[in-house]
Amino acid sequence: EKDGHDWFMRKEIFEQPRAVADSLLGRRSRTGRLQLDEMRLSDDELRDIDKIIIIAAGTSFYAGMVAKYAIEHWCRVPVEVELSSEFRYRDPILDYSTLVVAISQSGETADTLQAIRHARTQRSKVLAICNTNGSTIPRESDAVIYTHAGPEIGVASTKGFLTQLVACYLLALYVAQVKGTRYGDEIAEVMHQLEAMPDHVQTVLDGADAVYQLARAHTGTRSVLFLGRHAGYPVALEGALKLKEIAYLHAEGFAAGELKHGPIALVEPGLPVLCVVPPRGRDQLREKMLSGIQEVRARGAQTICLVEEGDDSIGPYADVVIRLPSVPVLLQPLVSVVPLQLFACELATALGHDVDQPRNLAKSVTVE
Ligand code: F6R
Repeated sequence: EKDGHDWFMRKEIFEQPRAVADSLLGRRSRTGRLQLDEMRLSDDELRDIDKIIIIAAGTSFYAGMVAKYAIEHWCRVPVEVELSSEFRYRDPILDYSTLVVAISQSGETADTLQAIRHARTQRSKVLAICNTNGSTIPRESDAVIYTHAGPEIGVASTKGFLTQLVACYLLALYVAQVKGTRYGDEIAEVMHQLEAMPDHVQTVLDGADAVYQLARAHTGTRSVLFLGRHAGYPVALEGALKLKEIAYLHAEGFAAGELKHGPIALVEPGLPVLCVVPPRGRDQLREKMLSGIQEVRARGAQTICLVEEGDDSIGPYADVVIRLPSVPVLLQPLVSVVPLQLFACELATALGHDVDQPRNLAKSVTVE
């Protein structure tokens, strides 16, 4: 049942090319237009939307952070991302022109369920992004985009996250299509890039051994930092969450630009810092990231850099380089998170932990 893998988590990490491909299946009509079958909101309803609020918890929240970058860029609609446990308690401003998007792998997370119930009492439309057919959150929503990861058994979300990202990109492109902020050929271009992602994810998985070696060299590590910018920032947060959840290590993710506003004080000689470097084509972002990497290295950190293939500018500042396929910055999370999942899984295993059933955690959190 684990397909020759020692843990469900590892099996699910390796299923990601298939999960991403399945989540993209059947999304284009014969004329090339994007179609979302379970999108029960009409084009008119979507055109009236002038604000989107994404609510989610944990890993799903980080998918929501990536979605914000994609939706704002492609649709020019303002997006807020909010932890579902905080949402109701700040008296959010909601009405019929606000679309609330609830992201939940299980569809049963109590915080997220209560948040959508609140949104609906305020006349907002709710769209669920969910991996579990017939679960409570999609049943109580106005519309749903199902992800097709298949059952996720490992408590730490992996393929759930990648397929949530895919659903978020599809939603963003669909809204762009309806609102007319992007044109058919641009949308088709991104769809082509998305359709190439299963192969790119596979390429990263083919390099797993190097990541495993790196992980096994860190069994004595007490603390790990993760840095990212733009769509790489939520990836840094997700990399840190994986390590906390299953390896029980102190880990923190930061927006690289925030480092100098405080967290750099944490850096001491030998501290591993995993850095998600934006791809070329976003040179301003990339250069700022490189200077952040230089800063931590100058203070003795061990810099482990996830870098687009062919980008050699990192050379002098990286102690370890992990190569990523060349993809646009908004889609990069689909490939950059994979080495971080592999790293956490292997490090936790090497420490002797049960990665499928980490202590104190349950697969779906049905209490608020
Ligand atoms: C992390 C993890 C949790 C969940 C969170 C939300 O690996 O599994 O952080 O992402 O509890 O769960 P769902 O998406 O089911 O609402």
